[in-house]
Amino acid sequence: MNDIQTNHIAEPAPSKKGPLKKVITYGSFDLFHEGHYRLLERAKALGDYLIVGVTTEQYDESRGKLNIVDSLADRIEHVRNTGFADEIIVEDHVGQKVEDIQKYNVSIFAVGSDWEGKFDYLQDYCQVVYLERTKNVSSTLMRLKKTPIIRIGIIGTGRIAQRFVPEAKYVSGVTVQGVYNPNGQHAMDFADHFSLEIGTDNIQQFFDEVDAVYIASPHQTHADYVRQALAHGKHVLCEKPLAFSAAEARELYAMAHDANRILMEAIKTAYCPGFAQLIGVARSGMIGSIRDVEAAFSRLTPQGLREWNDATYGGAFTEFGSYTLLPVFKLFGTEYESLRFDSILAPNGVDSYTKASFRFSRGLATTKTGIGVKTEGQLVIAGTNGYILAKSPWWLTRSFEVRYEDPNRKDEHYVNFLGDGLRYEISDFAYQIAGYQGRAFKLLESESVAMAGVLERFIKERQERTAHKF
Ligand code: CTP
Repeated sequence: MNDIQTNHIAEPAPSKKGPLKKVITYGSFDLFHEGHYRLLERAKALGDYLIVGVTTEQYDESRGKLNIVDSLADRIEHVRNTGFADEIIVEDHVGQKVEDIQKYNVSIFAVGSDWEGKFDYLQDYCQVVYLERTKNVSSTLMRLKKTPIIRIGIIGTGRIAQRFVPEAKYVSGVTVQGVYNPNGQHAMDFADHFSLEIGTDNIQQFFDEVDAVYIASPHQTHADYVRQALAHGKHVLCEKPLAFSAAEARELYAMAHDANRILMEAIKTAYCPGFAQLIGVARSGMIGSIRDVEAAFSRLTPQGLREWNDATYGGAFTEFGSYTLLPVFKLFGTEYESLRFDSILAPNGVDSYTKASFRFSRGLATTKTGIGVKTEGQLVIAGTNGYILAKSPWWLTRSFEVRYEDPNRKDEHYVNFLGDGLRYEISDFAYQIAGYQGRAFKLLESESVAMAGVLERFIKERQERTAHKF
């Protein structure tokens, strides 16, 4: 203990008489390590009674810490096992430290020296002590040791690929290594722009240099790139839609299982913390039994783009259907009794607007998607006691309201959402590659396969309708 120095304020000796001298400290305590142990040991020695605040995963996510591995229960257990904590509390919101210090009548706030100066504002309430951080150990380092940096290669150089690169920078443990495009110039320009190591039209060279791929190529090429990537032993994060038939989606997942590789469909909403919370609230019984889901997504798309020109795979529903189907399948499951599409078609057969109506044994659902019709992009989940309203852009879930018959009664939920939101899916991808369990529920294989099945049926019906019409 003698080698430990305080950087700010001398450590007070423990008092054995008088009122309890309470010390409080906070942390994620993920992958519990020696640095945590020593911090708690010294924090305890500062007083008579140690309170340890352990952060929830949601709170960590909201402050940009996306790679927490251990569950809250495990992290609490590890803190308890040290024997230093007299009381363990959960930290789940900004500003809680000020509340806790007053509520528990705390004398000393202690934290590692990596936070030096950051908590001086608490000096208005108690003493603040920065304890020297133990060198060469951290949860981040331990995560990296377990899985070396994952080198991700991007297939495709379009709009979404351009958003991916800056978002990936927020995820520890991954690096965007390079980009492939059959058009070599496009690949090189992209690599230049984002300072990536590789920009190539040579797919073999590309696969040789990466551990995982993000597929952001035109829709109809997704499945084939997935096959190639898995055949080369790469993990795959594939933009939606993964496939255009249920059988093909099933085949791809089977291939991933056989190759012992992760295959994830990149429907970013599924991985947003706010969306998971919305589904949790909807399923909690607060609005009673869920009887109807209405999900809409429209984005007026300029003529001349792929969405309008590709008569087979373009159109509103193939473009945005995955977003709107997500809450439907999350809330009612994937087994629907009936499904009916109504579309407004452009002369080339592409749908500018589509309504899909489902009947499930437990309720009804409608999805609305538009590239040539603008509508309110909202999600309404109706139940027997009330409803949930998530306004546009609900697919980047930042807030939602629970409403009831009495218009004065309204619960508002706000959830932090950082950047473009792609960082959450990238983080989950890295987490799964590292072999950690527990996040696969966000988009189940069965849900992804069911979405491919709906698209398959839609494209078939649209083709039939177009053939009939002309
Ligand atoms: N801590 C420490 N020495 C270390 C690591 C952490 O003293 N080598 C302290 C932190 O300063 C903090 C507490 O332990 O007071 C909890 O830190 P936490 O953020 O949970 O641990 P880290 O290992 O720093 O986590 P990460 O790498 O994910 O940021």
